[in-house]
Amino acid sequence: MIKTTIAEVYKYVDQEVKIGAWIANKRSSGKIAFLQLRDGSGFIQGVVVKADVSEEMFKAAKSVTQESSVYITGKVQKDERSPLGYELLVTNVEVIHESVDYPITPKEHGTEFLMDNRHLWLRSRRQHAVMKVRNEIIRATYAFFNENGFSKVDPPILTGSAPEGTSELFATKYFDEDAYLSQSGQLYMEAAAMALGKVFSFGPTFRAEKSKTRRHLIEFWMIEPEMAFYEFEDNLKVQEEYVSYIVQSVLENCSLELKTLGRDTSKLEQIKAPFPRINYDDAIKFLQEKGFDDIEWGDDFGAPHETAIAESYEKPVFITHYPTSLKPFYMQPDPNREDVVLCADLIAPEGYGEIIGGSERIHDFELLKQRIKEHDLDEDAYKWYLELRQYGSVPHSGFGLGLERTVAWVTGVEHVRETIPFPRLLNRLYP
Ligand code: 4AD
Ligand code: MG
Repeated sequence: MIKTTIAEVYKYVDQEVKIGAWIANKRSSGKIAFLQLRDGSGFIQGVVVKADVSEEMFKAAKSVTQESSVYITGKVQKDERSPLGYELLVTNVEVIHESVDYPITPKEHGTEFLMDNRHLWLRSRRQHAVMKVRNEIIRATYAFFNENGFSKVDPPILTGSAPEGTSELFATKYFDEDAYLSQSGQLYMEAAAMALGKVFSFGPTFRAEKSKTRRHLIEFWMIEPEMAFYEFEDNLKVQEEYVSYIVQSVLENCSLELKTLGRDTSKLEQIKAPFPRINYDDAIKFLQEKGFDDIEWGDDFGAPHETAIAESYEKPVFITHYPTSLKPFYMQPDPNREDVVLCADLIAPEGYGEIIGGSERIHDFELLKQRIKEHDLDEDAYKWYLELRQYGSVPHSGFGLGLERTVAWVTGVEHVRETIPFPRLLNRLYP
């Protein structure tokens, strides 16, 4: 007997196979039972025809409960109507473990209930599809950076510094010292870029943000590339090529998942480099003309502002050259203008907001030292970071892409809580 998975049944058309699976759903009549089977690799319909199996077997198939685990045996058949293209003509159902009173029934449930049952909710077809797309974006990330000469470097999670401002830190104890959970690996990635040239990281980051929006997580995963000798323009080029690459990879390798999610793929098909740009000054003018009277030069953008700007474009848009006062201490000033920095945020289409923050970094020792002072940061904690500007300092740039916001945009799901297996939110640490 061939033991296989749902994803691989296409190899065994008209052959009998055995699959370990769960019963996602079931419906039956007097003569036929339809079992919706899932095994992690995918979903397939199993058809049990009363006339083809023993009476005992038909009874067992009719009474098997939702989420019971089974070994199912059946003949693989082509089926044009199913999303997978195949179904299973079941010959045997062997119950491994009977599931009793599974809490997530096929009826509608409220979000809090589903979040309390996140450990089970992950099994649903929709959540499965989102996790598969997340996985594809991670796979494509490694592929893109490896193909382009980057090395993966892992910055620490426990740190003594605060690259993105001191107000949103998770403080902890490191024996007798104060420590923080990493908000960003950037500063360490800058050190790594001076050793390896082009580097990227992928890991969890933490922000004790009191924001309760559909774009904010307390713990989120970030991809942070950093490149020696890359200036502002070079940085934007990597970003638009990388984002295009991941979107096109998802289109190519996750068509079934995007269909499950009801995603409008025509919007994604347009996501190809280059991306449009607007500088901060023009973005402010644009918003004022649109009727946002409350915003003026020097203000940061909120979600409605970002959405209004993004709506003018079909691709993600870079907002560049923000006022120095709005951005972290490490950003390189515009050589033509002291009041703005060489930075860009990449705003996703369709209201998904900022998915990337990046910039050229200050490479002058004196200027960086001055900025650390101005920002009231502890100079001792940044001694090593300053030293990167003492031994062969070079222009360099990098950025951070938030994985969950990117997954939300690509899948079209409303809220980032569905784009990470176990979301950490303002009021949620369970499960
Ligand atoms: O713009 P941010 O704060 O930039 C940095 O941390 C830089 N040090 C990155 C770098 O240059 N290496 O964060 C980068 C991205 C944002 O654009 C957003 O996609 C995501 O991280 N992000 C969040 N995602 C979910 N929940 C949150 N609370 C997030 N905060 C930032
Ligand atoms: Mg940002």
